Amino acid sequence: MQASLFFTKPPSKWTPHHRSLTHNLSTSPFSILPIRSQTIIAAVSATSPQLLRHQHSLSPEKVELFKSLESWAASNVLPLLKPVDQCWQPQHFLPDPTLPTLDFNDQVKALRARTAELPDEYFVVLIGDMITEEALPTYETMINTLDGVRDETGASQSPWAMWTRAWTAEENRHGDLLKTYLYLSGRVDMLMIERTIQYLIKAGMDPGTENNPYLGFVYTSFQERATFVSHGNTARLAKEGGDPILARICGTIASDEKRHENAYIRIVEKLLQVDPTGGMLAIADMMRKKITMPAHLMYDGQDPHLFENFSAVAQRLGVYTADDYADILEFLIERWGLEKVEGLTGEGRDAQDFVCGLPPRIRKLQERADERAKKMKPQSVKFSWMFNKELRLR
Ligand SMILES: [Fe+2]
Ligand SMILES: [Fe+2]
Repeated sequence: MQASLFFTKPPSKWTPHHRSLTHNLSTSPFSILPIRSQTIIAAVSATSPQLLRHQHSLSPEKVELFKSLESWAASNVLPLLKPVDQCWQPQHFLPDPTLPTLDFNDQVKALRARTAELPDEYFVVLIGDMITEEALPTYETMINTLDGVRDETGASQSPWAMWTRAWTAEENRHGDLLKTYLYLSGRVDMLMIERTIQYLIKAGMDPGTENNPYLGFVYTSFQERATFVSHGNTARLAKEGGDPILARICGTIASDEKRHENAYIRIVEKLLQVDPTGGMLAIADMMRKKITMPAHLMYDGQDPHLFENFSAVAQRLGVYTADDYADILEFLIERWGLEKVEGLTGEGRDAQDFVCGLPPRIRKLQERADERAKKMKPQSVKFSWMFNKELRLR
């Protein structure tokens, strides 16, 4: 029923009421409800779906607020970056191509021996995570849609812009390393993976942040924590599966995500101090929309449900689950002290009640979905990334 809303003419004015129709709580931790229809539209038309969204919802006074926070950002956000010469690089974890050929080959052979026993489902999840990282141009673009904090020149010295560029530069290593590692493993269909990356960057993303940095930073706080959880779990599974180097790689990426999460959390924390109602309304708004995963428009040229199928495998392996979604929200409620925020308007208090009451509602919905899933037959699909091998979704 929800999906059909996107095939009919949207209402001429997008009101919060209309939004709630299409952004009810879903039982999937990854998707706002219409993803299947979005993916189908993307697959058929090869363009991103144009949802009717609010744009530029930040008032001019609040744009000024972000200007006034620049020196705060310089001393509280920028220090969370690492100097380049102290950062790890993909080459620290990969076979050394400067070695004599036989020694280099030995390192590649060792990598292949370590990855030989990892299950195909594990690769599906790692590939999906890697592809998500590889669509980094989209995320830098998304952050630069935000009024008051965007990089106005491409080399702006505003601390907001300096953060975004340096964050992008740090993130850029994640996809590079995972992609090279997967390539050397020989276990995966690189051609289909590369096509998926191209499709995904071409499709973009639509997180519903309305050019509004309040919404944007709530989104990135949640999202960085989600990737921290996900990479942490792929690290654990690599270790259990016999590849300690891959475990170290995923763990190292997870610790970057944690540092980035801290930066975005600090920003929202500051917004809640200087503008409690504005901060609270933004958190409630993003949670009503649901946090859409950044790769929600993923497509490989074959499977119109690729993102959902990848998400189902991630859920089955425990890499990123509906429980994680509720856990992240609970963590943020606690970290931002949302139950204790004072000085709210009536609307702000309503938003507070909504957000603080949400985790148990999500868990209850998930329990019901789990019950239903138990009664369903096991389901498998073919993943092009794994040479069309059929793998279990549930
Ligand atoms: Fe990342
Ligand atoms: Fe990240």
